[in-house]
Amino acid sequence: MKLVKIILGAIAIIWILSLVISKIMLPIQNPEGHYSGLILDQESDQILKESCFDCHSNLTKSYWYMKMPLVSIFIAHHISEGREELNFSKWDSLTDKQKKKAIEKSLDEISEGEMPLKPYINMHPSAEIDSEKLEKLKKAAHRIYGVIPEDGVPDKD
Ligand code: HEC
Repeated sequence: MKLVKIILGAIAIIWILSLVISKIMLPIQNPEGHYSGLILDQESDQILKESCFDCHSNLTKSYWYMKMPLVSIFIAHHISEGREELNFSKWDSLTDKQKKKAIEKSLDEISEGEMPLKPYINMHPSAEIDSEKLEKLKKAAHRIYGVIPEDGVPDKD
């Protein structure tokens, strides 16, 4: 069947183009270099790792859907933008003031339901930050960087 061949050919071309474009947008999947020590504390860092690191660090993991046609472009765009805004792997190179600001912004984004991005949560439900996790992050942010969340100083444990 000629039509089937044409359709399969078109899919193959779109697929290959998608992979090439996404590779160009995100040339190095996992560039070298990572922070030493901690961002906040063990528990909070675990939350950030699970919910944010795929887009905001050099430790992006690979998932099958990242190779799908067009989706790969969409995701490469998110990761390169995410890393540009905030790359936790470069934590060591930030000043204390920049760190505080980054954590402040992060808490705002999470509280407003902007982060992690919705499509990511759809694919990774456990990445959603519930109120318990958010409270943990707020407490650590206050204790370590003196961040005061919009809803006031968190209670002590
Ligand atoms: C699926 C990828 C993805 C995940 C996961 C993700 N982000 Fe983002 N993040 C982005 C992109 C893309 C941007 C830039 C565009 C935007 O602001 O929407 C961004 C922007 C940001 C910004 C800057 C916002 C601004 O306007 O200045 C902060 C802060 C941030 N993210 C924090 C987080 C935190 C904290 C988490 C985890 C709880 C997280 N992100 C999870 C992709 C992601």
